Amino acid sequence: MEIIHLSAECYPVAKVGGLGDVVGALPKYQNKLGHVAKVVMPAYNTKFLHENDFEVVYDGWVRLGSTNYQARIFREKTNKLGFDLFLVHIAGLFDRDGVYGYGDDTERFLAFQITALDWMAQWEHRPDVIHVHDHHTGLIPFMLGNCFQYRHLNQIPTVLTIHNAQYQGQFGWDKLHYLPAFDLIHTSKLDWGNAINPLAAAIKCAWRVTTVSPSYLEEISYAANGLESLLSQERGKSVGILNGIDVEVWNPLRDSMLGKNYNSRTIESGKRANKEELCRVFNLDVEKPLFTFIGRLVGEKGADLLPDIFYNVLQQSDGEINILVLGSGDPHVEDRLNEITYHYQGKYNAYIGYNEQLSHKIYAGADFLLMPSRVEPCGLNQMYALRYGTIPIVRRIGGLKDTVIDIGDGGFGICHDQSSVWDVSYSIGRAYALYKDQKKVKEIKKYIMSLDHSWDKAAQAYIDLYQM
Ligand code: ADP
Ligand code: GLC
Repeated sequence: MEIIHLSAECYPVAKVGGLGDVVGALPKYQNKLGHVAKVVMPAYNTKFLHENDFEVVYDGWVRLGSTNYQARIFREKTNKLGFDLFLVHIAGLFDRDGVYGYGDDTERFLAFQITALDWMAQWEHRPDVIHVHDHHTGLIPFMLGNCFQYRHLNQIPTVLTIHNAQYQGQFGWDKLHYLPAFDLIHTSKLDWGNAINPLAAAIKCAWRVTTVSPSYLEEISYAANGLESLLSQERGKSVGILNGIDVEVWNPLRDSMLGKNYNSRTIESGKRANKEELCRVFNLDVEKPLFTFIGRLVGEKGADLLPDIFYNVLQQSDGEINILVLGSGDPHVEDRLNEITYHYQGKYNAYIGYNEQLSHKIYAGADFLLMPSRVEPCGLNQMYALRYGTIPIVRRIGGLKDTVIDIGDGGFGICHDQSSVWDVSYSIGRAYALYKDQKKVKEIKKYIMSLDHSWDKAAQAYIDLYQM
């Protein structure tokens, strides 16, 4: 099958969070299964663009209202990611460093989607499936099915994967004229809550809808930032497929970002060496358990709770634990997390920012990883932690519920039910008690490293879905 993935992120070209990891891995695993999966994404001004060789495969214009933008598509020449990669360059819209967060994101992602379709409309053949990811590519199923200029493509099946229903990309009806012409009888397919809602439009128009874990599919029927009734209505065409991880990129034995590589046989010395490096750099005590948080500092991740949790447990534990945070996001949370450093030197530290290499070092060097998420459609961090022998402490929600079993239930992690300072502090207390039983901890670490979360199974599950 020929599968075209359209996405705003793809690791290592551009990554903000897990969407990038998924789109950087799933197509590679689908190709390994004998299919031809390709990725089409915007050409941001990133290092990848400047350090690789490309050829131009499309040269044209895209019109939004009264503005014409020059649009080009580049193909990476060497297939170095394990799939064909196409970057859509739109002059004035994507020649910037960041992925999201600009005032004209609506225009940027609309121009990207229209250009990608204009290009595919010229192909002599049709791909078997078009797979769109999140709201940034959510208008594609609508445009394929309804816009006059893509009429000849309207039999291509479309799949939408919802990575996060919190973000929907809504914009006002005053921008309707940006879309290529279609019969206005179909406008209701774009509407949700009196706005054009790309995620809602994709849920309505895609042939199939997937969520990134089975539990998240259950949860969005009652918590989906306003889309609950729509998702319940479209439940018949929806399925939850748990994400995998790229076990080539995330392999403690081969990971070139680590100070010391290890496998389950050498886990004790390997993790110890990585912990020593972290503790040296961040002024922490290697003899004490190291708790960590890695992620976007936003409400969904429970990041606003972290400062109070940390003050609480640092005080209660009487200096017997270490905490290290890596993240960026809400400036207020960033400030509070920085502030703790002054009060608990030698026991706590924070790196505010995005640092891919440091994240790998932390998964390897930490003892416990905290994920107090309010919303977690899948979560990849806990799976990386497991692979690196770090015990996850998670709230039972979404993909966390599907991947982590509490030690009290015969499992290997520590779970709680609420995203609250009290629940997370209590879990940290349980982890501290567990840490004192080093024999048990060693057994768990060895066991979690052997769990298989690779993409093999999920890549096939998507193929089965496309075949339907
Ligand atoms: P989300 O996509 O909601 O942010 P995921 O758990 O799916 O959550 O994926 C997060 C990804 O982003 C992981 O690869 C994680 O290691 C990475 N990440 C998050 N914040 C940072 C950061 N500050 N520095 C480096 N990597 C980060
Ligand atoms: C989203 C979700 C996260 C998920 C990721 C990849 O960013 O917030 O839970 O793991 O997408 O699917």
